[in-house]
Amino acid sequence: MQNLIERAAQAIRRSRKTIALTGAGISAESGIPTFRDPGGLWDRYDPEEYATIQAFRSDPAKGWPMMKDFTELKTAKPNPGHHGLAQLEQMGMLHCIITQNVDNLHQAAGNRDVIEFHGNMRQVVCMSCRKLLPLDEISLDTLPPYCSCKGVFKPAGVFFGEPIPVDAMYRSQEAAQSCDLILVIGTSTVVYPAADIPRISKDLEKKPKYNSVNLCHIKRYGGRREVLSYSPKESGAQVIEINPEKTDLTQRISDFIIQEKAGVAIPQIVAAIKAMAS
Ligand code: OAD
Repeated sequence: MQNLIERAAQAIRRSRKTIALTGAGISAESGIPTFRDPGGLWDRYDPEEYATIQAFRSDPAKGWPMMKDFTELKTAKPNPGHHGLAQLEQMGMLHCIITQNVDNLHQAAGNRDVIEFHGNMRQVVCMSCRKLLPLDEISLDTLPPYCSCKGVFKPAGVFFGEPIPVDAMYRSQEAAQSCDLILVIGTSTVVYPAADIPRISKDLEKKPKYNSVNLCHIKRYGGRREVLSYSPKESGAQVIEINPEKTDLTQRISDFIIQEKAGVAIPQIVAAIKAMAS
């Protein structure tokens, strides 16, 4: 393990542009359950029933209680994994974070360039007039909450079937294509288009271009999604995963995986970088 920590530290030191893609796993040590690990959110709520835009449209009162759970995550604090990434940014060694998380913990840790790929839960959007309001400014006493135009408010997080925010999509593609190292931390990489980001980084030749892509789950492809075929080590950016479990990326895309909790591995990588510099 120490060997891999040092390899990652060396790769970051040598990299011209490092970015990170994060998922729910990085916040697990802050006490926020992931989606697909045992006991995760999708064990309690069927995403087809609660997290698609079609389900929300047909019964917003049913979807809101789960969303309220999210909004009550406000008490969670960044953990050493988040703080480690903030330190890397301050050291000039991390260009940006693309996060699928809506918990605001990267920003709370001090990262300044965080691309919120799945939107955020700090705001609500009216489904009729598209007005955006801070969540704090609306009452959740009666659900669903309504806008003054009588439209239903929806959390500004992206639901399955909704498009990824255009700016986040554009900036993520640009970062994925221009980086030479991507850290893929705490994500199962089964939700698209986020799961394409490391693939785009790896395969600089193919450069997929999206204008608008709706959020979807691998299940909708009827199982395993087609993976671009090439020899993982031969082209594009280096891909380093930090995840206690192997993922779809591990064999085909990643250069290597550090099978450890983010809150353990990331501070060790930062310490190794500092030791190498001194
Ligand atoms: P998942 O729940 O699918 O995956 C969490 C990953 O984190 C797994 O691969 C775990 O092995 C790993 N993990 C668990 N604890 C960890 C730790 N301490 N350190 C590092 N890794 C750890 O969550 P995501 O991949 O983020 O979208 O899910 C992607 C999207 O699916 C979410 O953004 C959400 C969900 O449906 C929406 O709801 C829009």
